[in-house]
Amino acid sequence: MSVHKFDPENRKKLNSKQRLSILPPAMVLTDIGLGSQTIWADIGCGTGFFTIPLANEVKQVYALDIRAEMLSDLNESLTQRQIHNVKVLQSEESRFPLPDQLVDGIITSLVLHEVEQPSEFFRELYRILQTGGRLVVIEWAKASTEMGPPIEHRLSIQQLDDWALTTGFVKTKSWQWSDNFIGIEYKRVE
Ligand SMILES: C[S@@+](CC[C@H](N)C(=O)[O-])C[C@H]1O[C@@H](n2cnc3c(N)ncnc32)[C@H](O)[C@@H]1O
Repeated sequence: MSVHKFDPENRKKLNSKQRLSILPPAMVLTDIGLGSQTIWADIGCGTGFFTIPLANEVKQVYALDIRAEMLSDLNESLTQRQIHNVKVLQSEESRFPLPDQLVDGIITSLVLHEVEQPSEFFRELYRILQTGGRLVVIEWAKASTEMGPPIEHRLSIQQLDDWALTTGFVKTKSWQWSDNFIGIEYKRVE
């Protein structure tokens, strides 16, 4: 599968005012519903659009990305804000340096349309989730909108469901945030 990776040169755009207004992280995290004693992973965390608000709500966050530039900005923000419950780790394309069943929840935001081997990636997501744990996928809606990648680079809900259900996940919820973003929650039940 040919994918287009986000260019780290553009990483400041990830925290733009426009994005914060159409996908407010606090609203998304409220919709997801967290728990103060839970452990989460943010896979493909970028510069921490979700990692930082997540860290303020849960016990521990593991923030993974394949690009060192992203993680370096995230580390700087964590130091500035004196946030101490985030472990930042560089990962490989479909290999997360985390043990089996470590986390209660996973967020992966605007990452799957960039992933080279989605089936392997979903298997890794499944592996690190506890039984009963939740995976929340956030993606661009497959529509032509003002911002974001061209429609042919976006993933349909059907495609995401196919990968997730084939891996063994059960679909439990979905959201649409503005015209631009969709969210799907899957659960590991065994
Ligand atoms: C569009 S950015 C989104 C960043 C962040 N999740 C957000 O919502 O702001 C996509 C991120 O996914 C990362 N990424 C792409 N493929 C990945 C993979 N296979 N594993 C982990 N991270 C990946 C990129 O390096 C980039 O930081």
